[in-house]
Amino acid sequence: MSENEEVPAEGQSRRSVLRAGGATAAALAAPGGAAAAAPAGASGAVGASGAEAPALPAATSEVALRVNGREHPLTVEARATLLDVLRERLGLTGTKKGCDRGECGACTVLVGGERVKSCLTLAVMEDGREITTVEGLARGDDLHPVQDAFIRRDAFQCGFCTPGQIMSAVACIDEGHTGSDEEIREWMSGNLCRCGCYPNIVDAVRSAARGAGR
Ligand code: FES
Ligand code: FES
Repeated sequence: MSENEEVPAEGQSRRSVLRAGGATAAALAAPGGAAAAAPAGASGAVGASGAEAPALPAATSEVALRVNGREHPLTVEARATLLDVLRERLGLTGTKKGCDRGECGACTVLVGGERVKSCLTLAVMEDGREITTVEGLARGDDLHPVQDAFIRRDAFQCGFCTPGQIMSAVACIDEGHTGSDEEIREWMSGNLCRCGCYPNIVDAVRSAARGAGR
């Protein structure tokens, strides 16, 4: 007998326990039984006829996302992450989906100038706030100094983590966490690079910080 199996009371055989369980299931399925009494709207509820009740519609909200200086009025599901809305609704695919659970930093964007992991942020939470993605850094043909530093210092290989690294680096420099290589490493540690470009990334952040007078 497994740990989870019920121990029959004294005088009660395994067969009688199973028979009692079968009777309960039959009672639940019978017209007028507990299953028939389930609320009609309950998600996934199965009625007496065996037909599945229609699923409840997803809750939605009206939001106005301000992304890279443009306002986007949208109807979004309350559960939609900022990452999915940026990529799938606004077509801003520069922001990458790596782990989708807050561990890799590939989805980093700036909200109100602060870095956030957009896979852990609901879009409805950022209604009306100023959001910057990697697409919003360059001014026309002029790259942002951090983008330029990543190219000059050869700070990427496959490039998948690079948009998140760059957004994090912009904030890291603004925050003033670039006093030493150790400090840069510490404050960039939320952004992982599977290609192992860390020495060049630190180099690029240091170079951009010095260029900004930090
Ligand atoms: S995709 Fe958001 S932290 Fe990895
Ligand atoms: S450059 Fe490939 S994951 Fe960082």
